[in-house]
Amino acid sequence: MHFLSIGTILLSFGIYASAVDNSTILSPKIDTFINNVLAEWNTAGGVAVAVVRMDAQGGWLVETKGYGVAKADGTKVTQDTIFALGSDSKLFDILATGLLVSNQSLTPQISWKTKLASIMPGWKLMDPVASSESTIMDLMSHRTGLPRHDYSYFVYNDTFPALIHRLKYLKPSAGFRQIFQYNNMMYAVLSYLPTVLLPHKPPFVRYVKEHILDSLGLNSTTYSHATATATGRMADGFARTGINQTANPLDAGIPRVLPYLFDFAGGDGNTFSGPGGVLTTAVDAMLLLNGQHPTTNATIIPPGVVQMVATGVTVPEGNACVIPIPQRMFLSITLMQRFVRALCHCLWRGADPVVLPRSWCVLMLGAFVRNPIRL
Ligand SMILES: *[C@@H]1O[C@H](CO)[C@@H](O)[C@H](O)[C@H]1NC(C)=O
Ligand SMILES: *[C@@H]1O[C@H](CO)[C@@H](O)[C@H](O)[C@H]1NC(C)=O
Ligand SMILES: *[C@@H]1O[C@H](CO)[C@@H](O)[C@H](O)[C@H]1NC(C)=O
Ligand SMILES: *[C@@H]1O[C@H](CO)[C@@H](O)[C@H](O)[C@H]1NC(C)=O
Ligand SMILES: *[C@@H]1O[C@H](CO)[C@@H](O)[C@H](O)[C@H]1NC(C)=O
Ligand SMILES: *[C@@H]1O[C@H](CO)[C@@H](O)[C@H](O)[C@H]1NC(C)=O
Repeated sequence: MHFLSIGTILLSFGIYASAVDNSTILSPKIDTFINNVLAEWNTAGGVAVAVVRMDAQGGWLVETKGYGVAKADGTKVTQDTIFALGSDSKLFDILATGLLVSNQSLTPQISWKTKLASIMPGWKLMDPVASSESTIMDLMSHRTGLPRHDYSYFVYNDTFPALIHRLKYLKPSAGFRQIFQYNNMMYAVLSYLPTVLLPHKPPFVRYVKEHILDSLGLNSTTYSHATATATGRMADGFARTGINQTANPLDAGIPRVLPYLFDFAGGDGNTFSGPGGVLTTAVDAMLLLNGQHPTTNATIIPPGVVQMVATGVTVPEGNACVIPIPQRMFLSITLMQRFVRALCHCLWRGADPVVLPRSWCVLMLGAFVRNPIRL
């Protein structure tokens, strides 16, 4: 779901280099490149970038920086500006699912291949095969045969049982596991797993806070817009009005601040939290690293879970990516993809070649001006 005019991208690359180059990636040259893209796109917003590299000793080289404007009052983006992740929140949804999969104390234990029919009360789909055979991995991979059906999903005071009850009335538009079809409701279903499976029935948001955010020290990350706004660091989402889409979709137009879509979610979140509710900063996103605590090295998210959620399962349109990105963590909005591709090409082919180490990530959080019609 392309919820908002803002988004995040985390890409990880596996590039071999004989030595780790410690030189800065977010150099003045890259700063100029990013500022030029913001200017060319006439954006009223900005972007935060985190670059994470592993050094030869297995430690981390981290750079975080902000570019452009965070708020209508002219506040600049910094590494601590809070952005709405929109659909990239789905990463946290499946990391949480992975924690349940690796929880040895769960009875019965579950796996990525556990069928929804065996664990989710009220689970039923119209297609009997998809209904009985759909696994956690099928929901994560958008291959149940259901198209988006977002008009059945944007029910603001929805409950999980009500949402699950509706699924059986929604027509599939493809066979089970036939094609990739993006579906938010399935990520809402996944976010109900902690409540359904654990004896103390924690709401999804509380589960993520306890086992991921607090454990890793992602102290600026929240699902609550009120909490984020209270810090004074929450970025505005912008739209542009008064432009001719056909003539120039990137025309400056008149910037307009959009109200936050999920303002009502509150501390414990709701059915939108899993598919789209994360609010976070470049610094926090950088702290995700590979699921280890940044200072104690304690394993918070098991490596197998990180590996699994970073592995592509369905390949839309037979074309996983334009640039060589072996592990694409998650989808993002088109313009952001173009921006990241452009940035990667710039890093790739730069006149001052950066020696890319074995393992690094570029993370971008952005508030770009987009026409709300395409949300
Ligand atoms: C990078 O920094 C590490 C220590 O932080 C040092 O051991 C290593 O030699 C440096 N590598 C290069 C290529 O400068
Ligand atoms: C964590 O791992 C890094 C890299 O291997 C190491 O330099 C550091 O000493 C470790 N920290 C602790 C507390 O074990
Ligand atoms: C693991 O399962 C046990 C038993 O159901 C539960 O008490 C605990 O909170 C769970 N932990 C996680 C991280 O899921
Ligand atoms: C949800 O909101 C609608 C419109 O405000 C209202 O008619 C309906 O009764 C509400 N449903 C629940 C379950 O609260
Ligand atoms: C997050 O907050 C905890 C508790 O206040 C603190 O111990 C930790 O250092 C903070 N982490 C970061 C990365 O600031
Ligand atoms: C928008 O631009 C197109 C192409 O330049 C033009 O044909 C069209 O008339 C314009 N629409 C409006 C409403 O100005």
